[in-house]
Amino acid sequence: MEDESASLTGKTALVTGAARRIGRAIATTLAQSGVHVALHYNRSAQDALALCEEIRRLGVRAWPIQGDLIEAGQAERVFREAVAQAGPIDILVNNASIFERDTLWEATDESIAKNVRLHAAAPLILSRELARQGRAAHVVNLLDTRVAVHGREHASYDLSKSMLLTLTRMLALELAPNVAVNAVAPGAILPPAGQSDAYLAKLARATPLSRMGDPRDVAEAVLFLLRSRFTTGQVIYVDGGMHMKGHLYD
Ligand SMILES: NC(=O)c1ccc[n+]([C@@H]2O[C@H](COP(=O)([O-])OP(=O)(O)OC[C@H]3O[C@@H](n4cnc5c(N)ncnc54)[C@H](OP(=O)(O)O)[C@@H]3O)[C@@H](O)[C@H]2O)c1
Repeated sequence: MEDESASLTGKTALVTGAARRIGRAIATTLAQSGVHVALHYNRSAQDALALCEEIRRLGVRAWPIQGDLIEAGQAERVFREAVAQAGPIDILVNNASIFERDTLWEATDESIAKNVRLHAAAPLILSRELARQGRAAHVVNLLDTRVAVHGREHASYDLSKSMLLTLTRMLALELAPNVAVNAVAPGAILPPAGQSDAYLAKLARATPLSRMGDPRDVAEAVLFLLRSRFTTGQVIYVDGGMHMKGHLYD
């Protein structure tokens, strides 16, 4: 990589799905490190605008960028709009996600296509646009510990996140030496929509470190990868050791 500086101050990031939950923690942690942030959102406009205000109070710039990344053509448009507003992008965090229940018996071409578009095609297209700028840059992809311990209950999701793991390694080689591409694979951090803390408490009991994580744990791992000058194609599991258990997740 051309840019040998490990400091993130003054760099510009595009974080997808940044308005809420883990994406919000990543965007806030980046801003606290002096990074200007283009906050991509899909439906959470109010949260995105409020977070922009919050981030600007930290002394960096922030821009809301809307886009449904399942729709064809939207990933290119979101990247172009981010550049038009924020200037060249140094950091891309592919965080946007859906987490819908289906088993291998229930998965349809539609459910698989939706998951693959959001979790693999959009990150590929956004990373390609980033690389086309021709400058040193970092990509961090948000995987899931389920790429190591498959579940029965989220087949389309697990398949598409496994694709994103493979894509992380393919892009790390393809986009070198200018762009480093790494991933963070969270475990039990926040309950999915419609699930209570009891859902995660059960997972926490099954986790080697016997606790749940926190969005800040994920954000810190993202920060570590962005500060690293000699790491690419790597996955950090922020999952309390769950990926080593080698059995079904749910
Ligand atoms: N939560 C956990 O414990 C956990 C565990 C393992 C892995 N992860 C991974 O960590 C990342 C963050 O997790 P999370 O639970 O915070 O994610 P999340 O709340 O499920 O989703 C993050 C954001 O993705 C955006 N999104 C959904 N559909 C979209 C679409 N069609 N186009 C564009 N954006 C879309 C949503 O934005 P809007 O709200 O603006 O619509 C949403 O706020 C995800 O990649 C997830 O797979 C999380």
